[in-house]
Amino acid sequence: MTNALNLRAGAMSTPRSDALYERACRVIPGGVSSPVRAFRAVGGTPLFMERGAGARIFDADGREYLDLVCSWGPLIAGHAHPAVVAAISGALARGTTFGAPCAAEVELAERVTAAYPAAEQVRFVSSGTEAVMSAIRVARAFTSRDLIVKFAGCYHGHADHLLVAAGSGLATFGKPSSAGVPEAFTACTRVLALDDEAALRTLFARDGARIAAVIIEPLPANHGLLPQRREFLAAIRELTSRHGALLIFDEVISGFRLARGGAAEVLGIRPDMATFGKVIGGGMPVGAFGGARRVMARLAPDGDTYQAGTLSGNPVAMAAGLATLDSRSSRSSVASPAAMATGLPERVPA
Ligand SMILES: Cc1ncc(COP(=O)(O)O)c(C=O)c1O
Repeated sequence: MTNALNLRAGAMSTPRSDALYERACRVIPGGVSSPVRAFRAVGGTPLFMERGAGARIFDADGREYLDLVCSWGPLIAGHAHPAVVAAISGALARGTTFGAPCAAEVELAERVTAAYPAAEQVRFVSSGTEAVMSAIRVARAFTSRDLIVKFAGCYHGHADHLLVAAGSGLATFGKPSSAGVPEAFTACTRVLALDDEAALRTLFARDGARIAAVIIEPLPANHGLLPQRREFLAAIRELTSRHGALLIFDEVISGFRLARGGAAEVLGIRPDMATFGKVIGGGMPVGAFGGARRVMARLAPDGDTYQAGTLSGNPVAMAAGLATLDSRSSRSSVASPAAMATGLPERVPA
């Protein structure tokens, strides 16, 4: 078995992956469907995977790896968990999509709202990006304000107004961090440094009446793991409440992982809205956003804020999410991730 930790660019012969990559590059930009898979940050060329089982993943050349990536978060129950596979197979046989509501989305929504009290109602979408994008639209509609505040080092998906780089100075105006994003699209986004309470207070003192929402990964995980001082998050909570802005916790990674109630539960801080993805879809394309009933009431068809999706609440994806959450329900997931990580490098076979 190859230890993924010891995988080094060019150290192995992977003729099938190499051939697939060559073919892929002809028809897919960069040969991949999402840039991080291209291995550019670590060197080498992508490995093409064929199957996974539990903690193991197998590439097109038949090599076996201990998978510490777990599809970047969704596979908290491991690859092809028998209960998840059975749930997907059962749903699959009954049809893949109806374009109409199904019982499984009600069940998953009940499961999410029960675990995450701040989400009194949720709506399902197909990715974390879509969840964040939709939550921000609702927040803007609810507050009748335009400005969004985010923090450097937090990732919230690839919606135009969130692909924003921090500039220099305090509470910088959003500058697009990607080509193809007009400056006008990021003009309503402000970027602050994490843990800079003074900058946050200054921004609210100046622009508080214009701020629709502050969005943060309560446990920023996309720039290394950057645990935040609870006091900093509490200060955001206090300032948003005082100024009539909404606090959005992006729990796409932390949701149902740190605890069933995500970082909000661990921190004891209740946001106005939260976004989810990854774990709640059990490896299928699912995202969700939720919040206080009065906020979510702004969504069409009840409200005036449009948001929709052909495959939202898809029965197969909902079944995968339900089975995945059920597979965690017997465990106390609060302590286990930390406990599991303790001494991990020593336990990984060479
Ligand atoms: C915190 C956070 N929010 C949003 C997203 C976007 O999710 P997706 O890749 O499903 O669009 C990610 C993706 O990694 C994420 O980590």
